[in-house]
Amino acid sequence: MIPILEAEVLDHYEVAPEHFVLTLDAPPIAEQARPGQFVMLRALDAWDPLLPRAFSVFHADSEGGTLSVLYRVVGRGTGRLRGHEPGMYVRAWGPLGNQFRLPEGERVVLVGGGVGVPPLVFWAERLAALAVPMEIVALIGAQRGELLVGLEQLKRARVTFRCATDDGSAGHRGYVTDLLPRTLEGKRATVYACGPMPMLRAVARITEATETPTELALEAPMACGVGACLGCTIPRRGGGYARVCSDGPVFPARDVDWSLMP
Ligand SMILES: Cc1cc2nc3c(=O)[nH]c(=O)nc-3n(C[C@H](O)[C@H](O)[C@H](O)COP(=O)(O)OP(=O)(O)OC[C@H]3O[C@@H](n4cnc5c(N)ncnc54)[C@H](O)[C@@H]3O)c2cc1C
Ligand code: FES
Repeated sequence: MIPILEAEVLDHYEVAPEHFVLTLDAPPIAEQARPGQFVMLRALDAWDPLLPRAFSVFHADSEGGTLSVLYRVVGRGTGRLRGHEPGMYVRAWGPLGNQFRLPEGERVVLVGGGVGVPPLVFWAERLAALAVPMEIVALIGAQRGELLVGLEQLKRARVTFRCATDDGSAGHRGYVTDLLPRTLEGKRATVYACGPMPMLRAVARITEATETPTELALEAPMACGVGACLGCTIPRRGGGYARVCSDGPVFPARDVDWSLMP
């Protein structure tokens, strides 16, 4: 059974313009959450929007029972969430979907763009806590420097990171994927990526050419979150469709038919 809760807001603060970290008291979800998975959230005090919104797990503390998401305000649902002060409640259910699989080799490269960074931070924290020697490198992109998120958490997890911004206000000027080919030189790596679709498409193209195992956490418009409405399908390589919510959201890059992706 997927836990469905009325979860108390414990903390809610702005980390970057229009980007917020929301922490909930949600022990059953926090206990089960794994990197790559997501939760559905919805305000309790309004019918509009009716449908919940999906957010990747940014941090889960199974002992403390808390769960955090990092989100950007883009429309009605995220706008409603933003109005929640500590002490208020939201409807939360999850964790939903699958999780990242353990890397092959001793090098991990994370590629995150915008609000695709949260699940990668959670994954970096969990990988860093494993008693296995592993080098973790993160490539983090945003439109401009003030919108780069998750860097504090990556530092704390002792992850080496490089940044890219569209306007050059921090790190490399250009796409975060420009940094990927050089980062893949040398040791065999496994790549995990989450971010806008054009970024994921570029990651898939680069890593397919270098035969680097790659997992992508995809986003799609979602209504039910549990595989029932078929609103979130993507084309599979070799034919057929997969549901991002229940077959994913994490997919091997080679399983996606990029020629049919919108
Ligand atoms: C598995 C999954 C994990 C996600 N994790 C995060 C996260 O960690 N942080 C975060 O900020 N967002 C995340 N999202 C995206 C988030 O769900 C949307 O931003 C949210 O649903 C927008 O709701 P809204 O009512 O505010 O916007 P709406 O009013 O519904 O839409 C506003 C604008 O955003 C676009 N939009 C809506 N949903 C999506 C989507 N899923 N992908 C791309 N564009 C969309 C619409 O086309 C429209 O242009 C995730 C989505 C999925 C499917
Ligand atoms: S959101 Fe309903 S099937 Fe995926």
